[in-house]
Amino acid sequence: MTPAVAIIGGTGLTALDTLRITRRETLSTPYGEPSSPLIHGELGGRAVAFLARHGQHHTLPPHKINYRANLWALHRIGVKRIIAVAAVGGIRDDMAPGVLAFPDQLVDYTWGRHCTFFEDNLSHVTHIDFTEPYCPELRARLIEAARALNLEARESCAYAAMQGPRLETAAEIRKLERDGCDIVGMTGMPEAALARELGLRYAACAVVANRAAGKAAGEISMAEIERNLQSGMARVKALLTHVIAMLDERESRN
Ligand code: HPA
Repeated sequence: MTPAVAIIGGTGLTALDTLRITRRETLSTPYGEPSSPLIHGELGGRAVAFLARHGQHHTLPPHKINYRANLWALHRIGVKRIIAVAAVGGIRDDMAPGVLAFPDQLVDYTWGRHCTFFEDNLSHVTHIDFTEPYCPELRARLIEAARALNLEARESCAYAAMQGPRLETAAEIRKLERDGCDIVGMTGMPEAALARELGLRYAACAVVANRAAGKAAGEISMAEIERNLQSGMARVKALLTHVIAMLDERESRN
C-alpha cells in the first residue's frame, strides 16, 4: 500500500518509536543512496514511511546529506505528502526552546549542495514556482492538529537554511534577523525545493532546540540541544499521530 505520508526525521528523531513497523526497504536511486532505509509502518491508522535524514545512527552532517536521493526514493514509492521534522535555533523572542514552529517562508543560505533535479539532459530549462515554499494545506493540517492537542506552536515564521555544520556567530544571527528570519536550521534546503520539483506536498515541523547564537547568555551546548529536543520530540510524535489520522478523514471525504 502506498503510504499516506512520509516523515523525514531530523536530529532528535532518528527513529519513530510510535510507528508500528511492517518492513524496511533499501532503495538506490539515480542520485545515489538515501540517508537510510525507508521504514514502512502504520501510525494513526494509516500507512506511513519514515526516513532518517541524518542516517539511522545520526552520522550524516547537514551538508553531506544526499537530499536528492532521499526525495527521489520517497517519490519512487509513490508518496505524495512529506512532513519534515527538523531541529532549529530560535531567533525571534517567542521561539523559546521546546516550542514547535511551522514555517511558511524560508531563506536559503546554503551552498555547494546538489539543489535540483533539473540540470542534466534537459529538453528545456525549468524553473519551479517557489513563492510559497511549503504546502499550505499540509501546514493547515499541522496547525489544526497542534491546536487540537493544545501544543504551543508558532503558526507563521520564516526559516533560515544555513550551511553548517557549525552553529552561527552572533553577528550572523543578527543578519538573519534583519533578513526577516525567525528560526534557523541546516537541513531545510534544498529539501523543500526538491520536493516541489517532484510535485510533492511538503511541510515542515520545526522544534526549537536552543536560542540562536547571541540570543542567550553563554555558549550553545549539544547537551542543551539534546535535552530540549527530548521533550520537544515527544510533542512532535503526538502531533504526527494526530495529524496523520486527520489526513485520513479528509481523504475519505474527498
Ligand atoms: N542553528 C542552526 N541549526 C540549528 C540550531 C542553530 O542554532 N539549533 C538546532 N539546529
